[in-house]
Amino acid sequence: MTRVFSGVKPTGHLTLGNYLGAMRRWAAVDQHEADALFCVVDLHALTVDHDPARVRRLSRQAATLLLASGLDPELCTLFVQSHVDEHARLSYVLECVATDGEMRRMIQYKEKAAREQRRGGSVRLSLLTYPVLMAADILAYAADEVPVGDDQVQHVELTRDLAVRFNQRYGHTFVVPRATRPGVAARVMNLQDPTSKMGKSDDVGPGIVYLLDEPDVVRKKVMRAVTDSGREVVYDREARPGLANLLEILAACSGGSPEELSGAYASYGDLKRDTAEAVVEVLRPVQERHKELCADPGHVERVLRDGAERARGMARPTVDAAYRAIGLLPAV
Ligand code: TYM
Repeated sequence: MTRVFSGVKPTGHLTLGNYLGAMRRWAAVDQHEADALFCVVDLHALTVDHDPARVRRLSRQAATLLLASGLDPELCTLFVQSHVDEHARLSYVLECVATDGEMRRMIQYKEKAAREQRRGGSVRLSLLTYPVLMAADILAYAADEVPVGDDQVQHVELTRDLAVRFNQRYGHTFVVPRATRPGVAARVMNLQDPTSKMGKSDDVGPGIVYLLDEPDVVRKKVMRAVTDSGREVVYDREARPGLANLLEILAACSGGSPEELSGAYASYGDLKRDTAEAVVEVLRPVQERHKELCADPGHVERVLRDGAERARGMARPTVDAAYRAIGLLPAV
């Protein structure tokens, strides 16, 4: 059976981008068709300036939202990264295979390091090594597939490179994984700045639809989305990024393709109204379930405890094998 691994980082409230780009498929497809693990990657949230209490709160919230989005602990393994030591254990070994140059080439590193510096902060070493920890997350579980949005594909490519390099140098140890992307909405853009990604750690609140936004807030954000001064509704990502983003969101939420949908609208106003309603309807069941789960925090805790136990059992043999292969003396 195909093994799938993916994760979400608790650095902000989860967004429509996280949902359409990744989470929705995890619940609708991956957990049914594969042996799937999903992880709240809290160690990754420490790579930028952070408030410890907020990270804890967001980690719990992310786990709750993953369950609310339809992940079923009977079908998949849901856990928190820091509860399984194998991630950090393997990350160090992979740092001994990765190079400084390849870390510095990562687009997200360049963007995030520049942002930290603009804010007057310093860049944490862990931000540079972030992709190695991500590779450890994936390789520890011998994952075949990693369902992600576009922005994570480069990290999965690096993971492949590290796995191949390790296998060649030290003997076959890791499965070489591949990234899978959704057909539509692999890169949901910020509604106020459609040339940049809708990211949960960004500051431009009005351009970001959060999974827990009230319906009226969603409507307001979508209706105020930046488009252009044209009139005709056409799907052209380069020339009309704002419009294309709305068409992709609508297609992801209501079916059809952005190209087909563009032919069905005579005005931007109608397109925005339908997109807003489609988003509200997609979020409604997630929000309802989230409310129920918040009333039973013990349930979420139990899911995470069981998930971590299962995950530990899966990761340990691979990480032990990597330790032996690279030359570390087995503990007796
Ligand atoms: P994160 O937390 O930024 O995002 C979680 C998932 O959501 C996708 N995503 C988007 N998709 C489409 N449009 C958007 N605007 C958008 N924003 C986010 C991301 O591509 C991702 O699939 N480094 C990862 C977390 C991670 C991980 C892993 C993922 C750590 N270890 C191992 C997979 C496997 C991250 O920061 O995702």
